[in-house]
Parts: sequence; C-alpha cells; structure tokens
Amino acid sequence: PQYENIKIDVVGEKKNVGLIQLNRPKALNALCKPLFQELGKAVKDFDADDKIAAIIITGNEKAFAAGADIKEMQNNTYSTNVRGGFLQEWEDASNCGKPIIAAVNGFALGGGCELAMLCDIIYAGEKAKFGQPEINIGTIPGAGGTQRLPRYVGKSKAMEIVLTGNFIDAHEAEKMGLVSKVFPVEKLLEETIKLAERIGTHSPLIVKMAKQAVNQAYETTLKSGLHFEKQVFYGTFATADRQEGMNAFIEKRTPNFKNE
Ligand code: HXC
Repeated sequence: PQYENIKIDVVGEKKNVGLIQLNRPKALNALCKPLFQELGKAVKDFDADDKIAAIIITGNEKAFAAGADIKEMQNNTYSTNVRGGFLQEWEDASNCGKPIIAAVNGFALGGGCELAMLCDIIYAGEKAKFGQPEINIGTIPGAGGTQRLPRYVGKSKAMEIVLTGNFIDAHEAEKMGLVSKVFPVEKLLEETIKLAERIGTHSPLIVKMAKQAVNQAYETTLKSGLHFEKQVFYGTFATADRQEGMNAFIEKRTPNFKNE
C-alpha cells in the first residue's frame, strides 16, 4: 500500500523484519490521525504476514515522534473527543501479537514516548530524549503515559516526569529501565535489526506465547499472572515446535521450527 506519513520496508538478512519509519520530518513526526491510521494498518499487515518475525518502529535522527499533533487537536472539545473516539486508533498497534521494537533517536515526547512504551522493547540512540510534556500545554498524557510509565520506572520517577514535563536523556532512561539498551546514533537501527533477527531465529508461535505471558505481568495480579504463565507454559507442550526445540537440543543440532 502507498503511505503518506510512514515508510515501510522489509529488512534483515532473511527479509523477515518489518520496518516502519514515521515520516513527517517537518513536524518532528507529530502523530496526526492519518499517521496513526497508517501505522495501525502497517502493523496489522506485518502481524498477519507469516514471513515477518518482528516489527521495528523508528523515526529519524531528530525525532522519533514529538507527540500527538498539537495543531490537529488544538480546537478539539470534550464532546468531539468522546464522539470521535480521539486516539482510539492507537489500540491497533498495541494489539499486535508479534514483538514490536521501538528504535528511538531524537525526541520521544508525549504521544511519542507513549508510542515507544506500547512497543515491547525500546532501544535508544545516545541523543534520544524522552518526556511527557503534556503538562506544559495544559493537558495530561492520554495514551498510556500515566499508566505504562510508572510500570516501567516506578511512581516517584513517573510522577516527576509527568508533573514537571522535563525531558530525560537516553542514559537516564536506560538507568531507570525505560530503555533496554543505548547505542551510538548511527548504530541504532543496525543493532535493532540484529535484535529482531535474533528473535526471528526462534519459533514464531512460541515467541507470541512468550510475549503474551510477559504482558500479563503488566495487566493483572501476580497470582493470576503466574496462573496464566503456567497454562501457557503447559500449552507449549501441545506444539510441534516445543518437541522440535527439545529434540534438537538432545541431538546437538539447530532446531528447525515450523511455527506449529
Ligand atoms: C504538532 C509539532 C509538534 C507537535 C513539533 N511540531 N512538535 N507540531 N504537534 N507535537 C512542529 C513545530 O510546530 C514546528 O513546525 C516543527 O515541528 C519543528 O518544531 P520546533 O519546535 O521548531 O523544533 P525545536 O525548536 O527543535 O523544538 C523541538 C521540541 C518542540 C522541543 C520537540 O517542537 C516541542 O516542544 N514540541 C512539542 C512537544 C510536546 O509538547 N509534545 C506533547 C504533545 S501533547 P513549524 O510549522 O512551526 O515549523 C501529546 C498528547 C498525548 O502528545 C496524548 C496522547 C497521545
């Protein structure tokens, strides 16, 4: 499909990594509705494509995304938000079964930080800056910033970020657990593709089950999360790939996973 606000590509040695680049550079990749509709479609298509093992969302060196589009929402009202389901298309990206990795160079602010947080892993370039500056413009985070951020970094740091609107840099973000690894700017995408390729060596079926299980840790109590984990763990024993993985280990060879 032809997109106007994003670019898509299939990358990696085995061409099994779906790459989505946010592409509104003049507006620092502000997340307008058409961009999010395109992003949702691209994620859904990669999710449905058996050749794709993992998805990367990235921006450019100046900005991952500087937030929801302030010009677009400037004259929204409470009623138009409710009637139009403002930001509802964001759900599409968070419903993806395959791993999504955010590769963040530059600003990830407001909705941009929230988009990175709804991904499964965040890799950052050294110059990345994260923040929830909504408070500066008289509103609050509206796509997970008050909920996902405390789960990543704890209450005190999340409160500080949300109540001050101050930015944090890549190394601080790594230290507080928001970011998994930091790389030199020009190495970021290459390293992120390597990560996606590594994930792509495993059974896609089992990767999906593992993602679902980890996500339970953010969505439920410990007791029901552990119960969920156990059921999914038991469930892996109903798959051919679990048998193949263990056989290959015993036979000292590389497993040949069939996604079954
Ligand atoms: C619309 C934006 C934008 C945004 C930048 N631009 N951020 N347009 N929405 N969120 C536009 C600017 O208007 C400008 O357009 C161009 O991008 C370049 O931006 P500058 O400000 O000139 O760049 P710079 O001086 O380098 O400053 C970079 C910046 C600043 C610090 C990132 O742009 C900034 O503070 N942006 C807003 C960040 C923010 O408040 N984000 C939260 C948004 S609220 P022109 O046409 O003038 O060249 C939000 C709500 C979340 O996300 C709710 C759930 C999603």
